[in-house]
Amino acid sequence: MEIILKGLKETEEFGMKLGRLLKKGDILCLNGSLGAGKTTMTKYIGLGLGVEEYITSPTFALINQYSGRLPVYHFDVYRLENAHELYDLGFDDYFYGDGVCIIEWADKIDKMIPKERIVIDIEKGKSDDERILRISGYGLRFGDLVKELTKE
Ligand SMILES: Nc1ncnc2c1ncn2[C@@H]1O[C@H](COP(=O)(O)OP(=O)(O)O)[C@@H](O)[C@H]1O
Ligand SMILES: [Mg+2]
Repeated sequence: MEIILKGLKETEEFGMKLGRLLKKGDILCLNGSLGAGKTTMTKYIGLGLGVEEYITSPTFALINQYSGRLPVYHFDVYRLENAHELYDLGFDDYFYGDGVCIIEWADKIDKMIPKERIVIDIEKGKSDDERILRISGYGLRFGDLVKELTKE
């Protein structure tokens, strides 16, 4: 599924809608180059999940935890050099825990992420504030979410 977001306002609407739909155990992978809008999207998804804290790009931490309607585990593996760093953090527990995982640069750790996931590739569009989303994934939750997202 492809979605075009014409500006920040539309990104906010989409992110919040997605955030409201997410459920315990959902794994959301965000891919796209630097500045594509992965962290911005995460902020809006967080709002939809009822996170009141301000979500930022984790500078040193690979995983930041927030609490909203559900726990939100925000991964940013851009600086990950060695998979062992993630094993040391017990990252698997987050995937099978009681919250939602949102993973920036998920492509970098593709094989470490459970197959059942929602993947959003973000790319810059024609104008500075336009973004093209390509949504794919695998599993029942992915199918349900696509149905819900396309419902007006
Ligand atoms: N429609 C849009 N959706 C997302 N970000 C946008 C949009 N239009 C402009 N931007 C800007 O693009 C930048 C994206 O940065 P960021 O979210 O940190 O990217 P990433 O995490 O992918 O490196 C932000 O400055 C944001 O304000
Ligand atoms: Mg980022």
